Amino acid sequence: MEDLKSDYLEAVELIGKHEEWRLKCLNLIPSENVTSPQVRKALSSDLGHRYSFNEPVEVSGERILSNFYCGTRYIDEIVEIGEKAACELFDSGFSDLRPLSGHMSDMVPLIAFCKPGDIVFAISPENGGYPGFQAGNLPETLSLKVSYLPFREEENVIDVEAAAKKIEAEKPRLVIISSSFPTFPQPVKEIKEVCMENDSLIIYDASHVLGLIAGGRFQQPLVEGADLMVGSTHKSFFGPQGGLILGHERYREEVKEAIPFKLVDNPHFNRIAALTLAMFEMKVYGKSYAGQVIRNSKALGKALWEQGVKVRFVEKEFTESHMIQINEPNHLSIALKLEKANIIVDKAGRLGVNEVTRRGMREGEMEKIASLIRNVLKGGNIQEIKGEVEKLTSEFREVGYCFDLDK
Ligand SMILES: Cc1ncc(COP(=O)(O)O)c(C=O)c1O
Repeated sequence: MEDLKSDYLEAVELIGKHEEWRLKCLNLIPSENVTSPQVRKALSSDLGHRYSFNEPVEVSGERILSNFYCGTRYIDEIVEIGEKAACELFDSGFSDLRPLSGHMSDMVPLIAFCKPGDIVFAISPENGGYPGFQAGNLPETLSLKVSYLPFREEENVIDVEAAAKKIEAEKPRLVIISSSFPTFPQPVKEIKEVCMENDSLIIYDASHVLGLIAGGRFQQPLVEGADLMVGSTHKSFFGPQGGLILGHERYREEVKEAIPFKLVDNPHFNRIAALTLAMFEMKVYGKSYAGQVIRNSKALGKALWEQGVKVRFVEKEFTESHMIQINEPNHLSIALKLEKANIIVDKAGRLGVNEVTRRGMREGEMEKIASLIRNVLKGGNIQEIKGEVEKLTSEFREVGYCFDLDK
């Protein structure tokens, strides 16, 4: 009992230490963001203890939707508001907020539209494609074959002509546009035309760029012809960790049927409530947030380049999204050195400005961040740099682009 208690207390202490430490850090991981106080409150609300499951039942010869659980009257209303807000925000025919993660949202079209043996096309992980679609991961788990889209590495976009030939030759069931290094829009419109002629569906995985799409500052995949848009809700979109699906009305039924009991039973209603609130924050603040994110990532790319740090895609102004890619040897060792100075990045050379933007940083701070990174890379004094990082982050602790309900 004593051991249990001390482990319990240690876990409590570690949670506190994590919060305290990460507040002092500059977080440049493009897959992460911070949520508003209202979203955090929803996440820890009673909704996180509850179930709700609407199923069709026959009453006096009529088929109606009825909830298996009682006590759900508010939950069901929240889900309705959230799905409506998502449709409006993304100009989508339907939405589904049940996938618990971006990865799960990627599975939905595979379950809904493919049969064993079908071919799906994806971007190769060598070209920044999401590893979930690598052979051996999702496709094989679901008895599908994966084949990779031809790619123009130097521009970080799909090679349309070569992709068209490959689609015509192999007739994939799905063409999935999914990148974990998305710096530029992909040719959705052009690929859609080929897909239509070959009876393939086109799925856009917006995990990284969802917040930029919501803010109207990146490509608009559904308008450009994607049949479905799936993705995470917590990278450039600043919702709770989770996933969602959007798309044309004609796919509503197949998508809705592919989720319960195949992928998700309880979709975690605290998360859906929190996501609903984030949808409204995006509706009001998304445009200015996303605009600032893109200005910041370009500014960070430029400042790093000018200070002698190698960054990819110089000739394309580094990026059109929330992330840039540095191009130095040994990203693993760079990441470990930066972490010692409280600058948090991943080990793939991606730098994302979504979280620091939400905390209020602008182009001037991007220049400071570039100098801090350059100093670490050039062997500067880590303790001194760490002190400068802590000073900078102490001025940007608030979360912006959200409603202040106390006013
Ligand atoms: C393009 C892409 N899709 C899907 C995912 C999986 O998202 P999640 O972590 O929400 O499951 C990732 C993860 O970073 C990703 O980069």
